[in-house]
Amino acid sequence: MSVQTPISGLPTPSGTPGAPKLLEVRDIVTRFTTDRGSLTAVNGVSLSLERGRTLGVVGESGSGKSVLSRSIMGLLPRSNTERSGQVIFEGKEISGLNDTEYRELWGDEMAMIFQDPMTALNPVMKIGLQITESLRFHLNMSKSDAKDTAVALLKAVKIPEPEKRFSSYPHEMSGGMRQRVVIAVALACGPKLLFADEPTTALDVTVQAQILDLLAEQQRERYMGMILVTHDLGVVAGRADEIAVMYAGQIVEQAPTALLFSEMKMPYTEALMSAIPKLTDASHTRLAAIGGRPPDLVNPPKGCAFSPRCPYVQPRCHEESPTLTPSPTAPEHLFACFYPIGSPETEEVRLRIAAQRLMATAPEFVAAPANTPTPAQQSPVPAPPEQTEGM
Ligand SMILES: Nc1ncnc2c1ncn2[C@@H]1O[C@H](COP(=O)(O)OP(=O)(O)OP(=O)(O)O)[C@@H](O)[C@H]1O
Ligand code: SF4
Ligand SMILES: [Mg+2]
Repeated sequence: MSVQTPISGLPTPSGTPGAPKLLEVRDIVTRFTTDRGSLTAVNGVSLSLERGRTLGVVGESGSGKSVLSRSIMGLLPRSNTERSGQVIFEGKEISGLNDTEYRELWGDEMAMIFQDPMTALNPVMKIGLQITESLRFHLNMSKSDAKDTAVALLKAVKIPEPEKRFSSYPHEMSGGMRQRVVIAVALACGPKLLFADEPTTALDVTVQAQILDLLAEQQRERYMGMILVTHDLGVVAGRADEIAVMYAGQIVEQAPTALLFSEMKMPYTEALMSAIPKLTDASHTRLAAIGGRPPDLVNPPKGCAFSPRCPYVQPRCHEESPTLTPSPTAPEHLFACFYPIGSPETEEVRLRIAAQRLMATAPEFVAAPANTPTPAQQSPVPAPPEQTEGM
């Protein structure tokens, strides 16, 4: 197994002709056996990632983001779990590895920043030791080299007074500082692939931006492949090269970031988009949340999984399940929808919804002649749900 220099020295780019991709995931399916029956948490996901690139994985709570990351890293629970599909890391199939082989990969080949920083750190162990442990295990460093490297890492993640902080316990640090330590632990052995699973949950907005900027900076400097997992499309907007939107265990839209924002096709992506806070919003403004609940993955709806919540739903959507297909105009843009944004069907519904909203807020501007049916009466599809469940 190759060993990367933890702090300095860029590895050879893996994008060179003939070099295998850093990561290729083919048709991953992960099921859990629950008291209520079999739950398909990840349902046929394929993706790939080159070194030096960031893939944003976005979706609501329960869409399968963490289970996907764990399926790739080999971190799934052993019992009640069934997984199929291929995970190819630098040209080698790794999905059949045993625990010892996986342990060799974790840290110096791939690392994960877990959702909750408190569970990622040992509360009764000084933070310096938490970093030096993996340096000694994976890179076979001497005690003093590991300490020097740990201090350099704390400095790299912008912890003030790193020599002093080396001897601090996690509870002596703020949430933002703890998350920097978690990042330092993940970066310690110079992984080629980094999963950052909601790395800024529970941090305030300013600290969130600092942590995300720090991650982006480290990803660039170390030329890592990064999978940035979040429920917030705004988080990945300026930070990911490509975005995969997940719903009910499936990728429902995937495209290079700029293309996804300019040519959004999936109604679910549009709904996630409207849930991004805007700079112009007053601080007390309630965000538009996506109406309805994510589907029960033990008993998913027939047809398109988003159909019970989709404002553009048509009869076909209740019968057939759309597959992820390249856009006719841009093959790198994939989406799974029969009536994508911009199609005549969605435009018709959009106009109808706009008219309904205008009627509700300013009826004097929409004086319908007597006996004219209202848009709602004419509509073959339901208006967008009024209910606002949180994401
Ligand atoms: N060990 C498990 N046993 C049974 N079901 C599980 C297990 N782990 C996850 N699930 C279920 O798999 C689905 C996907 O979970 P996952 O944690 O991947 O969601 P997520 O997109 O990461 O959500 P969040 O944004 O809340 O972290 C959920 O319905 C979850 O309840
Ligand atoms: S297939 Fe139908 S229900 Fe599903 S997202 Fe597209 S329009 Fe909505
Ligand atoms: Mg998660």
